Amino acid sequence: MDIEPFDLERFFARYEHDADIMLAESGIRSLAASEFDTDPGELGYVIPTAGDPALRRTIGERYDRDADEVLCTCGAQEANFVAFAALMGEHAVTITPTYQSLHSVPRAFGEVTTVDLEPPEWDLDLDAVQAALRPETSVLVLNNPNNPTGRYFSQETVEALYDLAAANDTYLLCDEVYRLLSPDPLPPVASMGEYGISTSSVTKSHGLAGCRFGWLAGPREVVDAAATWKDYTTISPSPFGQHVARQAIEREAEILARNRELAADHRARVRSFLDDHGLDWYEPTGVNGFVTVPEGFATGRSFCEALVESESVLLAPGDAFGVPDRFRIGFGLPTDQLEAGLTRLDSFLTAHA
Ligand SMILES: Cc1ncc(COP(=O)(O)O)c(C=O)c1O
Repeated sequence: MDIEPFDLERFFARYEHDADIMLAESGIRSLAASEFDTDPGELGYVIPTAGDPALRRTIGERYDRDADEVLCTCGAQEANFVAFAALMGEHAVTITPTYQSLHSVPRAFGEVTTVDLEPPEWDLDLDAVQAALRPETSVLVLNNPNNPTGRYFSQETVEALYDLAAANDTYLLCDEVYRLLSPDPLPPVASMGEYGISTSSVTKSHGLAGCRFGWLAGPREVVDAAATWKDYTTISPSPFGQHVARQAIEREAEILARNRELAADHRARVRSFLDDHGLDWYEPTGVNGFVTVPEGFATGRSFCEALVESESVLLAPGDAFGVPDRFRIGFGLPTDQLEAGLTRLDSFLTAHA
């Protein structure tokens, strides 16, 4: 079994440690540990290893599912991994561009057909999805809202995808890590019926990547099969992560209100910056935008490399998502850092105009 190198992580590994400003982080800025009680008591495994039953019940309520239909994991990354390990037979279909795990991990287990969104609005062609499905397709994969484009597909589109998947006896797995950054979140896919699976975490919308706390919600047989894999990956979530995540979920309304306000303010700042510099994007839900490459640069990668070397500001090259003529900007960072990053980006663009 082979796994492809994670392009974006490898690019970050070259530059992130030394760069002054990280303008490519995909989630909202992190909350301070001091906002929470950080003493979980005894530092054993979380027992039961699927996660605290009361917390799983609370999480399950958002999917109209019970505690046994929720598996707590170390971040959405593990939720996706164990879901694919459990579900993959011969073939999957993934809607791209998207977070690399969502096509590279299933490709490690079988064959993956990708269906590309159509720029500039990143529209989804349902006929292309239908054509990609095969009798042996076990899972159709969506990330909604989508990283890196910021496109949030409507309820109607997601229902159409669900119907295509269900008619083919295929699960629809939706990575919903950005869902709660929307001021108007759609019902999650795991609440749509027997073929719906949702993965999520407290990383992107709450600002708690360090908790490494996520989950998978869906039909019992999928959750059980994923739990079988998790016994070999991390066994249980971290008690620290679960302890803080529980508090964050209890205080979710207040945390999300703050984070959505920050996202809206920063989105407007970036929109006006891009307008001033003649750059285009699809106005995103969440805190990632996928922007056209400035004139004078052949690719998003050459632009990102020149920028980080000259200004110590890190953006993400679009080719890490299979789209070389874009770069991704993350605007969820603290406001002073966003402003400092945009000021340096402005000097760089002016010098290269
Ligand atoms: C779509 C998507 N899913 C999952 C992850 C990983 O999330 P977590 O930190 O919860 O493991 C990311 C991180 O960038 C992501 O963008």
